[in-house]
Order: sequence, then structure tokens, then C-alpha cells
Amino acid sequence: MPSVFIKTYGCQMNERDSEAVAAQLLARGYALSPSEHEADVVLLNTCSVRDFAEQKALGKMQSLAGTARSQGRSPILGFMGCMAQSRGAGLLEEQPRAHLVLGTQKFHRAAEHLDALLSGRERQVVDVAEEARSQDTIREHLPAAGARAVTAFVSIMQGCNQHCTFCIVPFTRGEERSRTIPDVVEEVRTLVSRGVREVTLLGQIVTSFGRREIPVREGKSGFVQLLEAVQAVDGLERIRFTSPHPKGYGDDLIGAFGRLSKLTEHAHLPLQSGSDRILKQMHRGYTRDRYRGLVERLRAAHPDMGVTTDIIVGFPGETEDDFAQTLSFCEEIAFEQAYLFKYSPRRDTPAASLPDPVPQEVIEERHARLLALINRLASEKFANYVGRTVEILVEGPSRKNAARFEGRTRDNRIVIFPGSDRHLGELLPVRIERAGAFTLYGDPAIVGFSPADAAVESPSVPEPLPA
Ligand code: SAH
Ligand code: F3S
Repeated sequence: MPSVFIKTYGCQMNERDSEAVAAQLLARGYALSPSEHEADVVLLNTCSVRDFAEQKALGKMQSLAGTARSQGRSPILGFMGCMAQSRGAGLLEEQPRAHLVLGTQKFHRAAEHLDALLSGRERQVVDVAEEARSQDTIREHLPAAGARAVTAFVSIMQGCNQHCTFCIVPFTRGEERSRTIPDVVEEVRTLVSRGVREVTLLGQIVTSFGRREIPVREGKSGFVQLLEAVQAVDGLERIRFTSPHPKGYGDDLIGAFGRLSKLTEHAHLPLQSGSDRILKQMHRGYTRDRYRGLVERLRAAHPDMGVTTDIIVGFPGETEDDFAQTLSFCEEIAFEQAYLFKYSPRRDTPAASLPDPVPQEVIEERHARLLALINRLASEKFANYVGRTVEILVEGPSRKNAARFEGRTRDNRIVIFPGSDRHLGELLPVRIERAGAFTLYGDPAIVGFSPADAAVESPSVPEPLPA
């Protein structure tokens, strides 16, 4: 039985694709290897969003090939995912010791290509063509290692048509293509029957789900219709989604927060820049005024709404004044959290040929200033939690401290608390005692827990047990 090791770079979509490929390979008689140095097949699931991610995967392939040779082994080595898609056959010219280049619409073909490579029928394979309905092929899940999985990711669509001028994703993932609502609901039902309590719906621009395939009904987009269908799955407690686009937050989606009890109060709203001039050059399709209005409506829809964002520092032509507008806008919005990216020119994207690149040292300096601001804002928000009682979904032993358990609040903050296996998968009211930089620390609020406190956090907190 050949063994496989898959290493993943990049986003949650890539993690999900890797999981589905691993599960498909298991079903085809492969085993999963615990080590990249023992496996018969090593696949690198690559990311192209920034050059840094590509260089990491390229370096890794070289070191894998070198180590294998020094051990006298000759595993099958492959690239899959976004970089495989965008570089295609060129990757094998650059890395002749690799055997497979598997594009983003071909994940489900991994087993047949590996069979051919392992049997010697083929020496190298490049498969990066488009394939109709490839969005329907990412559905298998791995059985949870150890404890049962409480949360799971579900891929609902692929591709993006927005063509932000800095972004390579429309080239690596292709046109927007959505699964059907019944198909997604069926997958969620199966997950819930295995113990899952929370799903995160995934796609490159999830808010565009079904835009071309599903007619708007009673003012509700295909995405909101999907949220309603998933809300109706018995036994599911929470729904999250990522990654959305601000233009997708119409009245229907904003109204869904609060109306759909399982939809958690967390809106990731990628801003990219606080300067209207730069937003226009990025082809983002909104201004700072429109963005501000959205945040106001989201926070009005639910007082505990967590708003997080992505920001790019050093887009071509970004002046000190543009950057100052990003700083002041972040201060004004007071994001719960922000992911900062240093601009990286990507091949074939319109921004890569814009004049006035920002010098690297200026990018570094702006990044440091923005990071300091974001960290200050985030820690102020964290501090606000101390003394409050919040509902968490218990996910398992803490990744930081194995003697403790961890769960997440509805707005996606990690809470570490003294728990045990019996809490796994439970919705638990927890009193927050202390706030760290990225984590909250609490105690189960069973004794002296007031249901009135919990009602503020969520309508679905269980009744307290008698002391
Ligand atoms: N909706 C997409 C977003 C693309 S990548 C998704 O999550 O799949 C995630 C983030 O990477 C973007 O929001 C943007 O902030 C950042 N990013 C994309 N292209 C970039 C580039 N060329 N340089 C730096 N950051 C980039
Ligand atoms: Fe990329 Fe913009 Fe789509 S960031 S994934 S082109 S919404």
C-alpha cells in the first residue's frame, strides 16, 4: 500500500483541498504517512498569493529531492494547487526531479495520476486543464485523528471573477463556479451525523455563491438561501464563512445575522486600503464611505459583531498620505483583528505593471506602524472581555497547553479553560478571567452563572445546571 504525505501552504481553502485529496487517496487504497521522509509520495499543495509562498514550496521541493537522494530513496514528488496551476509544465523544467503538476480543477484526479507514476506507466504528468463541475469534487473528509472533530470546513464554490488588480487568484482558481445547495446541505448533514457542530463555508469569494446559477428569491441571494438551508440542519450549532467580499453584504446578508441563530457574529471584511484612490486602482468596487456604512449596519445588526479584515501595505503608488488614510481608517473602524500583507507583485496581474513601486524599506516601515496600531486595537478589544460570560463551542485540548481545553466564542476568539473530554462539542458558558495577546482565559460559568448574562451573548446558551 503506497503511503502519501501532503504538505499544505496558504489558506483554509488549500487545507480543505488537501484534506479532500488525502481522503480520496485513502479510499483508493493509499495510506497516509506521518513523515515526508518516509512517504512513497510527497505532494506540496502550493499557494501563489505572494511570491514568498511560492519560494517556500520551491525550496521545499529541492530539499525533499536532495534528502531522498541522500537516503537512496526515490519517492514520487508532486506540486498541486495554485502554483501548479499558474506555472504548469514550466515547473517540471525548473524542478526536473518532480513528477507531478496537478492544477486546481484536477484534485480528484490525483489517484489515477499517482497510480500511473508509481507503476512506471508515466514518468511525469502535468494536468492543469479546466474541468466542468470540478467544484463538486471537494467533498470527502478525513476521519478525525484522536478526538472527534467538532468543526469542519466545507468548500461551496471555487474561483473568483472580481479581478482585483493585485490578485493572482482569478488566474489560479478560474471563473466562479458554485456547488448546488442540496449538495452542500447533504455534506453538512453527513458531517453533523459524525459529531461536527460547526461548519465554515469556504470559497475564494463565498458571498458570490450561486450568483449565476441560483435566482434571487424574495430579495435573498443564492448565498443567503444557502445559509438558510444550512441553518435548517438539525444538530448543527454554528455557521461561519470565509472569504467574503464587502460587495456581498447586501441587506439580505446583513439581515441574516441575528435572524439565523446559527450564523455567528463575525464578519471578515477585507478592506485592503483606506485610501479611495488606491481602492479604485485595486478595482475593489467600494469606497471608504461605503465600507464604513457596511460596518455600521453590521454592528447595528448585532452589538457583538466582530469585524476583521485584510490589508495590503505598499500597493504601487501608495503615498504616505494614502497610507495615513489607511491608519486613520483602521483607528476609526477599530477592527477586532486584521491580517496585514506586504504587497507582492504577481505575474499577469495588472498591478504588477503599474509605475511607482513602493521601496521595500518603506513597505517594512509602514507594515510595522500598521501592525503596532492593529495590535493595540485588538488588545483593547480583548481586554473588554474580562469579567464577561460568553458562550464557547468546545473544540478539544488546547494547542498551547495540553492540560487545558479550548473553544471559540461566536465571534471567533479562542478561549482556554480547565475542561475535559466530556465538554467536547458542547456549547459552554465561560466567564473570562484574563486576556492574553490573542487568547482569552476563562472558567466554566456553571456556579453562579446568571442566564441573564448569557442572554446578552447568545439566545442558545444552555440552562445552568443546579450547583
Ligand atoms: N478572497 C480571497 C482573498 C485572496 S488572498 C481568499 O481568501 O481566497 C487573501 C489576502 O491576501 C487578500 O485579501 C489580500 O489582502 C492578500 N493578497 C492578495 N494578493 C496579494 C498580493 N499580490 N500581495 C500582497 N497581498 C496580497
Ligand atoms: Fe482575489 Fe479580489 Fe477575488 S482579492 S480572490 S480577486 S475578491
